[in-house]
Amino acid sequence: MSRYQQVLSQLSKQPKRWLVTGVAGFIGSNLLETLLKHDQHVVGLDNFATGHRHNLDDVKHNVSPAQWQNFRFMEGDISNFERCREAVFEVDYVLHQAALGSVPRSLDDPIKTNIANISGFLNMLVASKEAKVQSFTYAASSSTYGDHPALPKVEANIGNPLSPYAVTKYVNELYADVFARAYQFNAIGLRYFNVFGRRQDPNGAYAAVIPKWTAAMIEGNTVDIYGDGETSRDFCYIDNAVQANILAAVAADEAKNEVYNVAVGDRTSLNQLFNAIKENLSPCGVNYPNDANMKDFRAGDVRHSQADISKARELLGYQPTHNIHQGLAQAMPWYVEHL
Ligand SMILES: NC(=O)c1ccc[n+]([C@@H]2O[C@H](COP(=O)([O-])OP(=O)(O)OC[C@H]3O[C@@H](n4cnc5c(N)ncnc54)[C@H](O)[C@@H]3O)[C@@H](O)[C@H]2O)c1
Repeated sequence: MSRYQQVLSQLSKQPKRWLVTGVAGFIGSNLLETLLKHDQHVVGLDNFATGHRHNLDDVKHNVSPAQWQNFRFMEGDISNFERCREAVFEVDYVLHQAALGSVPRSLDDPIKTNIANISGFLNMLVASKEAKVQSFTYAASSSTYGDHPALPKVEANIGNPLSPYAVTKYVNELYADVFARAYQFNAIGLRYFNVFGRRQDPNGAYAAVIPKWTAAMIEGNTVDIYGDGETSRDFCYIDNAVQANILAAVAADEAKNEVYNVAVGDRTSLNQLFNAIKENLSPCGVNYPNDANMKDFRAGDVRHSQADISKARELLGYQPTHNIHQGLAQAMPWYVEHL
């Protein structure tokens, strides 16, 4: 039995009370679904800035009525400190996911990104410290590696941030570290690498590449590739990210006040990704006939990204269950059914 299976089985026997911020978003709603399926009690906070009620409806559809009763939703903004205090009341484990994602969004409006991602983060950190929660796990980002050229990325070696978004995620890590030293409040940061899967939003100017291309192919629209298509990423299926969060929440003290890469340890170019999505849509009855439309490189984008995941393996017991192909095979039928 893996460490993750052991933890899930233990939690099912002794349910805990969790707060998931950003619960109406992609990662948050998937955390909610797994926690409810294991009979946990969950408070969810979201202001619907980029999340959707239909994500919560989708979770409701996938769990039993009794499990859904264990969920309490609070509409609210993490930039409101009182709302954070209310949300964290009597909570054991915090999974802080709420933030404004997207590098291009942060370049267009750095002030809004800063309010949600830095002030909101600090509010959640202070409220959680005051409430004496057992653990605080937060969404960090691979964008923190910035212009550091080494591959694979190792947690200790970072470069200069390439976007306001990357600055905000790095500041989260700095605050978490200071809270450990100043207040002995030990958080865990998870540096996600391009997470994808069911419920990731395909719409809007700031959609991530996999849902955006998937929707375009299903709807028969053009797929744009920025650059020469050799830009590469370590695409991480959502189930791996959910696993990392749950392992982090229950981690031993020695594993706290750390940041961890959350990925698979593989690298896929955009050209390869384009073909892989096409191949995985074909069994769902979607046969996309066109080539991609090549465009200029995009500002702020990191050229290559690939994680070394040995730290999470060793200290958290993290074992990714899905590579990109296994993840796409699960995600594509969901998009075909829901778009
Ligand atoms: N998806 C990825 O590949 C990826 C990679 C690195 C880091 N992250 C981080 O993971 C977290 C979750 O990302 P996601 O992909 O699920 O994005 P998402 O946009 O689907 O979810 C974010 C959620 O946070 C909510 N939110 C935003 N600002 C808020 C505020 N001020 N108050 C309350 N709620 C607010 C949104 O409404 C949304 O439901 C974010 O912190 C993001 O920066 C994601």
